[in-house]
Amino acid sequence: MKYSRIAGTGSQLPDKVVTNHDLEKTIETSDQWIRERTGIRERRVAVDGETTGTLAREACRKALEAADVDPAEIDLFVMGTTTPDLVFPSTACLLQKQLGLPDCGAMDVNAACSGFMYALSVADKYVRCGDAKKVLVCGAETLSRIVNWNKRETAILFGDGAGAVVLEACDDPGILSTHIHANGNYVDLLTTNAGISVGWDAVEENDGKPEIIMRGNEVFKVAVRTLGRIVEETLSANQLEKSDLTWLIPHQANLRIISAMAKMLDMNMDHVVVTVDRHGNTSAASVPLALDEAIRDGRIQRGDLLLLEAFGGGFTWGSALIRY
Ligand code: UT7
Repeated sequence: MKYSRIAGTGSQLPDKVVTNHDLEKTIETSDQWIRERTGIRERRVAVDGETTGTLAREACRKALEAADVDPAEIDLFVMGTTTPDLVFPSTACLLQKQLGLPDCGAMDVNAACSGFMYALSVADKYVRCGDAKKVLVCGAETLSRIVNWNKRETAILFGDGAGAVVLEACDDPGILSTHIHANGNYVDLLTTNAGISVGWDAVEENDGKPEIIMRGNEVFKVAVRTLGRIVEETLSANQLEKSDLTWLIPHQANLRIISAMAKMLDMNMDHVVVTVDRHGNTSAASVPLALDEAIRDGRIQRGDLLLLEAFGGGFTWGSALIRY
């Protein structure tokens, strides 16, 4: 068996909803500005006791159930996350026990908002080379824990959630190709101001907690350019045309970026899965959350050709072309 295919998907969101109107009460912003500039109306935020791990656990359980796969059959577990529960063990490792997975490899991959695309790429390669038959892949984040809620530049954008897929080996694709890239020269445009090894000393704002630092407008421009390139790379690697695509499942950072991608692909927005209005930017969770929603509500059907793409801090970016 030469390829991997998506056998099942799942997702999980915190119950707590924070609307734009809620944010209007604490920072100098407006519902109108947020909707016009980002397309976001509300986002979900983890409460005490909810973590990246608890959200991921439920998303993974639902994906295993949808795939009708026993956790004991999983050969590898890969998690894309930038906000792990602990420094170590990895969140994947913590969940391995809770999910009832065997002693398979379990790892976190940190590629910021592209984390799920990176995780999916690793998982697909393991299946393709014959070292794994069933792989659990998850993208999960609690970015709300590293947002400065007093800064309007970032507080309006981010949300929490988790999405997961089970991949299984098959004779026909499945995943046609995955593509991942990084360019660390852009670190200053989107980063955090503290870390485990660098330390917290420089942090004065945000009650001494690390926070996301972003030059949004510059990130926006590079994101549109870079995603345009990876979309072309992905289609040409498979000798396919834009018109062959059935669905675009983009990273949900900003509706204007998503619309620009749809325009580049000559795709009607009816064929683009949009969740940013209700989820905000959930980083590594955004693509699997959107994928799960459109599979469960019946929009995505077996046989459809799906293009998944994401872009995030680093910069990192990635894509996958999938015959569902
Ligand atoms: O997922 C990882 C990748 N991240 C992204 O892709 C994020 C990409 N960037 C964006 O989505 C957008 O750049 C933002 C939504 C973050 C900002 O939108 P923008 O249209 O690029 O706005 P801007 O930063 O150029 O700011 C325009 C104005 C500024 O005021 P002045 O200088 O024109 O007076 C800002 O101070 O809007 C102001 N502003 C706000 N006003 C009300 C910035 N944030 C807000 C706010 N509410 N929340």
